[in-house]
Amino acid sequence: MQNTTNDRREFLKTSLKAGVVLGLSGVLGSLSANTTNSQGVKMQFSTLNNGVKMPMLGIGTLNMGNTKEVQNAIESALEVGYRLIDTAQRYGTEEGVGAGIKSSGIKREEIFITTKLRPSLTNEKDALKAFEGSLKNLQTDYVDLFLLHWPLNDTYGAWRVMSKLHKEGRIKAIGVCNFLPDRIVDFCLNNEIKPAINQVECNPLYQRANLQKVMQEYNVKLESWASFGQGRSGVLDNPVLMSIAKKHNKSVAQVILRWLIERDIIVIPKTTRKERMLENINIFDFKLDENDKTAIAKLDKGVSLSFNQQDVERVKWLNSL
Ligand SMILES: NC(=O)c1ccc[n+]([C@@H]2O[C@H](COP(=O)([O-])OP(=O)(O)OC[C@H]3O[C@@H](n4cnc5c(N)ncnc54)[C@H](OP(=O)(O)O)[C@@H]3O)[C@@H](O)[C@H]2O)c1
Repeated sequence: MQNTTNDRREFLKTSLKAGVVLGLSGVLGSLSANTTNSQGVKMQFSTLNNGVKMPMLGIGTLNMGNTKEVQNAIESALEVGYRLIDTAQRYGTEEGVGAGIKSSGIKREEIFITTKLRPSLTNEKDALKAFEGSLKNLQTDYVDLFLLHWPLNDTYGAWRVMSKLHKEGRIKAIGVCNFLPDRIVDFCLNNEIKPAINQVECNPLYQRANLQKVMQEYNVKLESWASFGQGRSGVLDNPVLMSIAKKHNKSVAQVILRWLIERDIIVIPKTTRKERMLENINIFDFKLDENDKTAIAKLDKGVSLSFNQQDVERVKWLNSL
């Protein structure tokens, strides 16, 4: 086991030298809020509406596998240089994330952990116990970002619990997911603490420009899930994106992540493969030009590639999660 870990570290050290560090050495110097972590990987940060700094690129964990598989993937991601991890009570990946962080030996305060409250536990009575369950799974005494997973059930009651935990310092920032413009406005108008983040489906075929504009009024940052259309939906083999990628000598995945970050959107692509982790983090050494951005803007279809969250059968299903 020790040897396997050492081999992996050696492989990643070499890969990092060859790929990420060299690739990052150019443009990053001119970006403002960048830092270099202990792996030598540079990262861009976003400042949330309460002053908390959040890495703009992290790793998603939906469908990452069983606890051991998640642990292995998280160990790899941390070795590559990822410091933002996105999990959720509903994904069943919190324990693997906690185990991966622990075995990495990296200090807790160097890592930004996001987790989410299950829809079925989104109410004033269950939220605290659910949060404490997350802490136990993650082997930590605080989370950096705790999100309402869906705008369903008693979001206001759960938010009161989350606000209290935030004031106590047990959650550094609180936010929401999948809130449409009307819900964001209502939520911001009627809560003392505004969400720091709204995590929503966002990719070149579903760009969410109107939603982002509404959110900017309240200083709520957009975080993208399904940046790659969940690896299906034709996003990664879109011909326009392929030609932009070729022009920059990058992959389509890198062009998408770069495009999102240039829109001030935080990204959390999911992969279990080390070579893709390296590929996905190596996006800070190039910039898209105006022609690229104009061409990508035209790709927006304005509808979810995943599902219609307002469909009544979906609402019933989501409530049961
Ligand atoms: N708040 C919410 O309601 C919500 C909903 C969905 C997801 N999320 C979060 O957002 C994260 C990201 O979204 P997602 O996992 O649904 O979809 P995604 O990141 O768009 O796509 C993941 C898929 O892309 C593949 N992939 C990753 N890097 C690649 C690359 N460089 N080239 C080609 N394929 C690549 C992965 O395959 P391999 O693993 O085989 O590499 C996987 O099949 C989730 O993991 C989760 O943490 C939140």
